[in-house]
Order: sequence, then structure tokens, then C-alpha cells
Amino acid sequence: MFTVDTYLPTRIIFGAGRLKELATAKLPGKKALVCVTADGLMKTLGIQDQVLDLLAQNGVETVIYDKVYPNPSRESVMEAVEIANREGCDFFFGLGGGSSIDTAKAVALVHKLGGELWDYASTGTGGRKEVTGASPIVTVGTTCGTGTEVDQYCVITKLETAEKLDFTVDALFPTLSIIDPELMLSLPKSQTMYQGFDAFFHNAECYMTNNHRNRLLDLYSVDGFKTAYQWLPKVLEDGSDLEARTNMSYAANILGGYSMGLDFVTTHHIIAQSMGGVFPKVAHGATLIFIAKEFYKRYTKHFPEFFDEMGEMLGTPADPSQPGTAFCRALDKVMAITGADQLKMSDFGIDPAQFQKIADVTVDVTEIDWDRYVMSKEEIVELLEASYR
Ligand SMILES: [Fe+2]
Repeated sequence: MFTVDTYLPTRIIFGAGRLKELATAKLPGKKALVCVTADGLMKTLGIQDQVLDLLAQNGVETVIYDKVYPNPSRESVMEAVEIANREGCDFFFGLGGGSSIDTAKAVALVHKLGGELWDYASTGTGGRKEVTGASPIVTVGTTCGTGTEVDQYCVITKLETAEKLDFTVDALFPTLSIIDPELMLSLPKSQTMYQGFDAFFHNAECYMTNNHRNRLLDLYSVDGFKTAYQWLPKVLEDGSDLEARTNMSYAANILGGYSMGLDFVTTHHIIAQSMGGVFPKVAHGATLIFIAKEFYKRYTKHFPEFFDEMGEMLGTPADPSQPGTAFCRALDKVMAITGADQLKMSDFGIDPAQFQKIADVTVDVTEIDWDRYVMSKEEIVELLEASYR
């Protein structure tokens, strides 16, 4: 018999052209720390000034924190907390992609509870202190991958230990998220590919982990992975296609976020995340793509019927002579059409000497014993070696 568990409290304003509603939306404070990346992209695209103007129209004062880097660090979060305390900010605004939004979330947590961010990490070298709240969080997402706009996760890296850990608590659900696909029209092709595959895997992996337990989650995740699969080649062919951007954003920012809000991804994501901790300059979506084929070649063998059904949902018929391979064949197809199968770890500076460390972090620090099939460190090293080109 199925069950239902749900708690998705973020108010969402989604749709092309809806950023302007920030001027009239109900906001949870009077002075916002606005977190943006250090590359100045939001400023260059004119989005930062537009958002500051809309917030001013809404009667909100703003302070900019513009030192967010990809794979945001604990050090950066603590620097932003200090600025927020000094300036008297009362809510936290993530503008841009996952890095800016996750920074805003982590800053909101420490702003409310005090102390040091790592005190609240619940794995690895974290202090395992209970998170009893966070200051309010508002987001305007301009990328199309993480789902952090609507879920209760943030991922932060501690540079000195190369730990890239999830903070997962209800207090991290944003109060309000505005998701306007028009802001995504200028995303470069490489980022569109990384984020698109990330979104596909968020939905697909939560569907795998859920294994039909929570009926409501299947509703989100199936629509999510099918929509991402269908629109990824189109959005990569023409990044200015607003219909393709809107569909990808719906799959990524809403359905992917909802799926992860209700269940977990698989070990695929944890290995990729561990690789990102060891090689913090490599985009998260790229690390997922590097290992996807070899991971699913091994993982799907343990649940052949389940993965034949998933492949059929993606339009690839099951083949009785090769049970359980339909999902992998569907994955091969989309990776070939989009060119994702051309990405090589060696082009991104990934050093095979670190594979054991990636396996150690995956098993010992992040932990994977909740997955439907639990891989050993040896299996992880072997699949990383098989993926290396
Ligand atoms: Fe992800």
C-alpha cells in the first residue's frame, strides 16, 4: 500500500516575465543581504540592478555580498554573516544560481542561531548541533538546475577538509522564490548542459530512491525526469527558445526541488558531490555526467524490472534479451544527442590519484547506507576508473 509524506512550504511565483512582481510581493523583512557571485555576472546582465530597484520599490533596503564562488565555502558564509550582523540585515536574498542561494541559506542559519556554520553540520567533522531555525530566505533563481529555490537543502564546502556537505533542515525552505525563465535565456550552453543533466538526475534519482513509497513524489519526479529528458536537446540547440527554457526550469527548479524536498538522490549524486569537494572548481553537473554511464551500468543490474520501466517512460523499449538496460540505453541516447558523452575528466583536471579519496569521502563522510543498493569503496573506485578518459 502507498503512503504520502509532504511538506513544501515555499511560496512560488513562476513564469516568464514575473520577476517584476518582486516590487509588490509580501517580503519577510526590511533589510536584505543580497548574495551574488564574485564574477559580476548578475551585474553585467543587468539583473542585479533590476532586482535592487524592485526591492527598493517594495520598501526594502539592501546590502550586497558579492564574494560567492562556485561550490560556496564555509569561510565565505562566515564572512557574509559578519557583514549581515554589522549592517543589521533581517533577511537573506539569494540571487543567481545554487551557489548564491545556498550561501544565503547558510548565512540565514548562522545569523539566527549564532556560532560557527560547521557546528550545525550533521556529518563528517560537523558539530551535529540541532538547527532550530533560520532567518527568512528569499530567492530569485537565474539558473536551471539545483531546486534549492524550493527545498530545504544547502550544500557548503569546508575548504581545509575538502568536505562538501548538505545541510538539510526545514528551516532552510525559502519563504518566497521567484522563478522567471526569461532570466535564463542568456545562460551559456555549457552551464545549460550541466544544469539540465543535474535536473534530470535529481528527478530520476528521487524516483529511484522513493521506489513508489510516497505516491505524491512519483507525480513530481516522473513529470520532472520526462520533461527534462524531452526538452534538454531542444534547449541546447537553441538557448533563446523561451518554451524550452520554461519547461527546463519547471523540471529543474520546481519538480526537481519538490522531489528532493520529499526524498533523496542516489549514490550517483553523492560520488559526484564528493568529487566536487576534492575538485571544487569543477561544475557539479559535469561531475554527474562524467560518471553517469558507468554508475547506472552497475546500479541498474540490481533492479532490472524497475529500470526497464523507467527506460520505457523515456521512450526506450525494454529488450528481454538484455533485462534492465532500457534506462541505460535511454541515457546513452540523450548523452549522445546533447554531446554530454564527449566530456572528459582529464579535460577538467580530475586526477585519478584522488579516486580513493573520493570513495572514502562518499562512504565515510557523506554516507550512502540508505541507498537501495549500497556500493563498496572498491566498487566506487572501480567505476571512477572505468569512467576516466
Ligand atoms: Fe545535483
